[in-house]
Amino acid sequence: MTAKTMEELVSLCKRRGFIFQSNEIYGGLQGLYDYGPLGVELKNNLKQAWWRSMVFDRDDVEGLDASILTKPSVLKFSGHEDTFTDPLVDCKECKSRWRADQLKSPNCPSCGSSDLTDPRPFNLMFKTSVGPVEDSDSFAYLRPETAQHIFTNFKNVVDSTSKSLPFGIVQIGKAFRNEITPRNFIFRVREFEQMELEFFVTPGTDEEWHNTWVESRVNWWEAQGVPESSLELYEVPADELAHYSKRTVDIMYKFPHGVEELEGIANRTDFDLGSHTKNQGDLDISADVMPNSASNSKLAIQDIDTKKWVVPYVIEPSAGVDRGILAILNESYEVQELEGGRERTVLHLKPHLAPIKAAVIPLKKNNADLVKTASELKKSLQKLNLGRVVLENSGNIGKSYRRHDEIGTPLCITIDFDTLEDRSATIRDRDSMKQERISLELIPEYLIKAMNV
Ligand code: GAP
Repeated sequence: MTAKTMEELVSLCKRRGFIFQSNEIYGGLQGLYDYGPLGVELKNNLKQAWWRSMVFDRDDVEGLDASILTKPSVLKFSGHEDTFTDPLVDCKECKSRWRADQLKSPNCPSCGSSDLTDPRPFNLMFKTSVGPVEDSDSFAYLRPETAQHIFTNFKNVVDSTSKSLPFGIVQIGKAFRNEITPRNFIFRVREFEQMELEFFVTPGTDEEWHNTWVESRVNWWEAQGVPESSLELYEVPADELAHYSKRTVDIMYKFPHGVEELEGIANRTDFDLGSHTKNQGDLDISADVMPNSASNSKLAIQDIDTKKWVVPYVIEPSAGVDRGILAILNESYEVQELEGGRERTVLHLKPHLAPIKAAVIPLKKNNADLVKTASELKKSLQKLNLGRVVLENSGNIGKSYRRHDEIGTPLCITIDFDTLEDRSATIRDRDSMKQERISLELIPEYLIKAMNV
C-alpha cells in the first residue's frame, strides 16, 4: 500500500496535525517543517524503536547526546570545511540558484535561459556566533551531521564504559544543512534529525561488519513497516563517495517523488579518529588525514593481548528520521473503497509507531455515566505505559472511527449503555474494521497483545 501522490500525504499531515510548514503565519521559511501533535508522537515512537534496537537490545552499543554548536576546529579536521559543498549555479536571467548536479538540462528550470554561471562550490554548513562579541574568533557551526561529536567523545566513552572492540556509540539529534534546493516536503530540508551509529571495529574486520550492518538495517526498516520490496541497495560508485568513505551502500526507498536515499551505510575507515587524534605520527593510520596538532586526545584503543594501540575502523549506518517518517507514512497510507461507494482513508501504521494506541469513545457525549466509565478505562489503559491513549468525547462514533482510521489508531473502544450493565465494551480493529465485545477487565491485556504484534 503506497500513497498515490506526495500531495495526498502533505494534505493528510496538515489536516490531521502531523506536519506543518514552519513559520507559516509569516509566510513560511523554505526547507523547514514543524511536527504537530500527532507528528511528534510518531517521530518519538520511531526514534524510540531505533534506540531500543541499537542500545537496549544489544550490549555493545552506548548512547550519547552531544551539543549542536560545534567548534570550527572539529569541522576543519573532519574535512567538512573543505569538502562539504554542493556545486551551485546561478541563472543570470532570473537570478534563481540551482544545484548543478541536479539540473536535467543545460537550461534554467525556472525561466529556461541558457545563461547560467559556471558551477562553484557552496559550503552547506550554517554558522552562528557564540558569546557577546561577534568576530572571526567567536563563530561556531551548527553541526551538519551528528557523527562528529561521537568521534570527539570517543575517549570519554571508552574510559567511562571500559568498552573493547567491536563496539558502537549512537546519537539521535538535529543536523543542519543550508541545502541549495530544499524540496519534496520533508525529504530534503535544512533542519532535520539523524539517527547515527558509529560502530568501531578492528581494521581488517571492517568489510564483514559493513555487510552485517547493511542486512541488519534493511531488516529494521522492514519491522517499521517499510518492506524490503520497497527498498533497493545502491552501491555508491567510487567517484561519488564522500571524502571519508572506502565503501558506501545506500538504502534507497521509492518515495512518492522517486527512488532516493533513506539511509547510508558507510565504511569510514580510520579517517575520523585518525583525523581528530593527537600524536598522529605515533599511530598506524591508513587514511589520508590532515596533520593535527590542535587535538588533546588520543583516539585509539589498546589491544588487550598485543598491547598495541589501534585506531579503529568505523562502520556508520546513518538514517534520516524525517525521511523515515515520509517512507512510513507513504507505505501505510491507503484509500479504501467501501460498500455503497463510500471511501475511508486509513494509515496502517505498525502499532508501536501509532501516535495514539487506543481511543476510548463514550456513545453519548453528555451522558455522565458513559463518560465516567470511559474516562476510568482511559486512565487504566494509559497507566500501562504503551503510549498515548485518548478519551474521544465527540459523541459521534462514525466520525471518531474515520478520524482514528486516518491517523492510524489501532483500536477504538466504544462505551455504550450495555457497558453500564454488563461491564463490557466494543473494540474495533482499524485494519479489519471487525468489532468484538470484550469485558472491561480484559481490555488492558487485549491492548498489550495488540501492541506487540
Ligand atoms: N554522517 C553521515 C551522513 O550524514 P548523509 O548521507 O549526508 O551521511 C545521512 O546523511 C542521512 O541523513 C541520509 O540518508 C538522509 O536520510 C538524511 N539526510 C541528509 N540530508 C538531509 C536533508 N537535507 N534533509 C533530510 N534528511 C537528510
